[in-house]
Amino acid sequence: MDGRWWRSATLYQVYVRSFQDSDGDGYGDLRGIISRLDYLEWLGIDGVWLSPTMPSPDQDWGYDVSDYLGVHPELGTMDNMDELIAEAGRRGMRVLLDLVPNHTSTAHPWFVESASSRQSLLRDYYVWADPAPGGGPPNNWLDFTGHSAWQWDDRTRQFYLHNFLATQADLNWWRPAVHEEFRNILRFWFDRGVAGFRIDVAQGLYKDALLRDNPPAERADPMDSPFGQRSEYNVNRPEVHAVYRDWRAIADRYYPPRLLLGETWVGQLRQLAAFYGVDDELQLAFNFPFVFAGFAADDLAGVVAGTLAALPDGGCPVWTASNHDVGRFPSRWCGGDDAKVRLALLVLATLPGALVLYYGDEIGMSDVAVPPNLVRDKLGGHSAWPGRDRGRTPMPWDNSPTGGFTAPGVTGWLPLGDNSVTNVAAQRRDPGSVLAFCRELLRLRRAESGRRLGEYRTLAAPAGVWRYATGGLAVTANFTEGPIRLGSPPDQVLLSTSPDRGEADPATLAPWEGIITTWTG
Ligand code: NOJ
Repeated sequence: MDGRWWRSATLYQVYVRSFQDSDGDGYGDLRGIISRLDYLEWLGIDGVWLSPTMPSPDQDWGYDVSDYLGVHPELGTMDNMDELIAEAGRRGMRVLLDLVPNHTSTAHPWFVESASSRQSLLRDYYVWADPAPGGGPPNNWLDFTGHSAWQWDDRTRQFYLHNFLATQADLNWWRPAVHEEFRNILRFWFDRGVAGFRIDVAQGLYKDALLRDNPPAERADPMDSPFGQRSEYNVNRPEVHAVYRDWRAIADRYYPPRLLLGETWVGQLRQLAAFYGVDDELQLAFNFPFVFAGFAADDLAGVVAGTLAALPDGGCPVWTASNHDVGRFPSRWCGGDDAKVRLALLVLATLPGALVLYYGDEIGMSDVAVPPNLVRDKLGGHSAWPGRDRGRTPMPWDNSPTGGFTAPGVTGWLPLGDNSVTNVAAQRRDPGSVLAFCRELLRLRRAESGRRLGEYRTLAAPAGVWRYATGGLAVTANFTEGPIRLGSPPDQVLLSTSPDRGEADPATLAPWEGIITTWTG
């Protein structure tokens, strides 16, 4: 056993502020998560990734860190974190944290010191530059809101760089001391028992040393060419790979090795594959071409085949379809249709590699329309991302007025969606629910993947149907509005998305039905 537990794992992203409030302030917190660990164990989760937990002024809800070695007081204490890691461990689950190495909050002591004078010893922890000849920002780079990525600082009369909000100053990775800071941050958390990190803006970090202008976009592509320019020089620089080789060496010194899971926001599969190195960089890299693929057999099968072909030997794919930025797949892919939600879950959980569910995916939770007066996200909605609050609303645990998320009478930080039907308690009672289906699916996944995870091959299928064999399973997924007649009735159906399979004609798949059968071919 080489300790690479994540290769067939089911991870679960907890958006901490929205999962479970334990102290009645309307925000989810670490003790709330501890109180829900039994549920996650029951569901069949191997590890949780917590959205940012470090102290932050919350201009971007924790993605503006002001102390990398602490716990945000609104979310809990270091003791709570230790307890969460221990209690998860007792239930066979691991805990990953979110690490933000591309930028810090401007309230971070490093930035405060750096901005104090041009002579500061930490001046070059950040990217400072003089105005362009004739005045104005040093170059044409744009931040994620489509405005100049440069903020003028009157005190020291230079600009600093920010790829996101002006309160999120980009670190200068050309400075060796920044590398040393992050090595220490990694070791600090790994020594505490943190199983790994999801790495924010993993394609960021380095910027062109000459600060060259980005070229105009050749084609509209929100991923690598937002706002009419191609992000050639401000992200995805070749030097970033050495950082991950360095971190991987640190991660590999632990047993089990610590996991580096990158938020690799790149549009091309070959760029994605590069983050695996030769199995010496990130062990998992999020696949956004898959997230943004159409919910159609050819589209999804195409990205899967392309991914598997692009990854280096030993590279483990990771499949996900919802998160706190892109929103929820039950809305984006499925338009709230439960049959499609089950089909999406079936495919996600049977593709070879790691799976990351977003809290609520397991109950088919949809995006929630958040009225303008309740919006909490300062970045989405004004940026390349549409408003992100829709995918961050509180977990509906039951059908009570607060959904069991917070104490009775307390108003949550974001509004609940319609929790009359879509809630955990009701779905736990209903053997025909999405939750019951998802749990059974994860049970099957765990039972199979322990033995034979790996190979994937597509099998002949009618138009609109995606058929593949992986390990000891065959999946037949009908992505059409109509019934599909199979050549012959399937052998042994281990699981179907259709609650009516028992009574149905065994050789016909209902619209949007997917089945898992044993595969011996
Ligand atoms: C990606 C994170 O997922 C997102 O929520 C955040 O706003 C940006 N990175 C900036 O840290």
